[in-house]
Amino acid sequence: MGGSDIEHSDQIEIVPISGELLEQAAEVHLEAFHDRASGRLGRRYAVAFIRWFADRPDTVALAALVDGKVGGYLVGAPLGYQRDINRDLFWTVFVSTLVRPRIWFSFNFIRIVLGRLQVMIGSKQQSTLPELPRPTFCEVGIGVSTRARGRGVGVQMLKAFEAEGRRRGMKSIISSVYRENTAGRALFEKGGYSAMEKGAGATVKYCLILK
Ligand SMILES: CC(C)(COP(=O)(O)OP(=O)(O)OC[C@H]1O[C@@H](n2cnc3c(N)ncnc32)[C@H](O)[C@@H]1OP(=O)(O)O)[C@@H](O)C(=O)NCCC(=O)NCCS
Repeated sequence: MGGSDIEHSDQIEIVPISGELLEQAAEVHLEAFHDRASGRLGRRYAVAFIRWFADRPDTVALAALVDGKVGGYLVGAPLGYQRDINRDLFWTVFVSTLVRPRIWFSFNFIRIVLGRLQVMIGSKQQSTLPELPRPTFCEVGIGVSTRARGRGVGVQMLKAFEAEGRRRGMKSIISSVYRENTAGRALFEKGGYSAMEKGAGATVKYCLILK
């Protein structure tokens, strides 16, 4: 990202995640998703997950510096990324689950793993979302540490991601939030996203058309 893409406020600065910020961003991920499979997989997975987005030219990894320390992170990628990330992080997930056998007792975790395996071997296609203008950027994950919540950090990161999407010629952004995640849903609504209500599944998709 160029310097002009970085957004500033008094104490909040949005920057690309580089080497020294990676560990701090992983800490935020572990805290923000402590009750989700991706948080329960531990530090090794958290670092590998965020690094995957930080290392590629077509993906995005942003950190929010709050009072000089990482207080939030956001990762995103063009639609279609899932197969590659599932393949690249397969062994990290494998080892992380081996040393945490209790995670296998989570029904939700088994459902996620089976879904990812299906995407990886090609027996299941990712959602094609034909009604959205292409290309489509996916907002894959956003987390803010508890100390930094309620200060507009999440919205600022979403705005920086939107600006980055426009710069890269994206025509839409999509994300997915668990239906019961009140804070997550409020965040996307505040960011100008619209809910794509389809059925009563566990997650709600949110989209933003970039005009
Ligand atoms: C969701 C999350 C990223 C929001 O971060 P944040 O920096 O606190 O959000 P913001 O301060 O930018 O708030 C954005 C809007 O959401 C609202 N909001 C934030 N937390 C809320 C909550 N717990 N309940 C209801 N609304 C909430 C805010 O009020 C604000 O709207 P407003 O300006 O009209 O008041 C943060 O709570 C988090 O990390 N949660 C755990 C991870 C997660 O669920 N990620 C999203 C799904 S991937």
